[in-house]
Amino acid sequence: SAIYCVFGHPVAHSRSPEIHHAFAAQFDMPLRYERRLAPLDGFAGSVADFIAAGGRGANVTVPFKQEALALAEVVAPRARRAGAVNTLSVDDEGRLHGDTTDGVGLVRDLERLGARLEGARIAVLGAGGAVRGVLEPLLERRPQALFVANRTAERARQLAERFAGFGPIAGGAFDQLEGRFDLVINGTSASLGAELPPLPEGLFAGDALAYDMVYAAQPTVFMRWAEQRGAHSHDGLGMLVEQAAESFFIWHNLQPDTGAVLAGMRGDAS
Ligand code: ATR
Repeated sequence: SAIYCVFGHPVAHSRSPEIHHAFAAQFDMPLRYERRLAPLDGFAGSVADFIAAGGRGANVTVPFKQEALALAEVVAPRARRAGAVNTLSVDDEGRLHGDTTDGVGLVRDLERLGARLEGARIAVLGAGGAVRGVLEPLLERRPQALFVANRTAERARQLAERFAGFGPIAGGAFDQLEGRFDLVINGTSASLGAELPPLPEGLFAGDALAYDMVYAAQPTVFMRWAEQRGAHSHDGLGMLVEQAAESFFIWHNLQPDTGAVLAGMRGDAS
């Protein structure tokens, strides 16, 4: 029977199996979804083994998202532009399709949280792979302005250039964040090391939302910093659940209730 999995290295911490099983339970659907640790130099071989064993769909996490893009025979345009694939599917002819659901996941979670994106002033912190995947769906919601700020300013400027066709985007250094923002999204990996990017005071507009793309049992330093300055803060667990829902839809053509699953996960966050 069909198998689904998440590939990563490491992968033991991944919450994707729990999320996909919870979705499947909503439809009384039996589902086999497992974690697969791929060797750092053996991603393609692991995918081939998986398909040979009956694999029909896979999520891909760090550090294989770019390799997954290269491996896919048919790549969704949004994944090509994001430079990453997090969802692989095997079609009936055995062809490997690649897509990315991270950006959709972020935007759905922001909307679930009541964020108004249209006409908003948005700041995105970071210019790595995590950020590249979310710029297009954010710009599609027609913000007034989107500024990408990064420690290495040049990377932010390059990203802004790359996505300029989708809307009003600019990039630069953290000290070039000017004016107040309705939404500030932290896509740097700084949170993982409990560090905070050097952010200016007066960053938040009234009623602003601060969103950290990472999730943790405790609020991140960025979330605490934002709360102290009057913003409402959220971690990225909702994004994780929403991107999983979009992958689930790609594979099973079913739209799960993400709110119920997220509430369940928050309930046993330990
Ligand atoms: P990912 O694919 O997870 O985004 P990445 O491509 O390595 O990973 O990017 C990590 C991002 O976090 C980058 O924007 C990086 O800034 P640089 O481009 O200047 O390297 C940012 N980052 C990592 N540690 C940081 C820190 N301590 N302070 C600020 N930014 C940090």
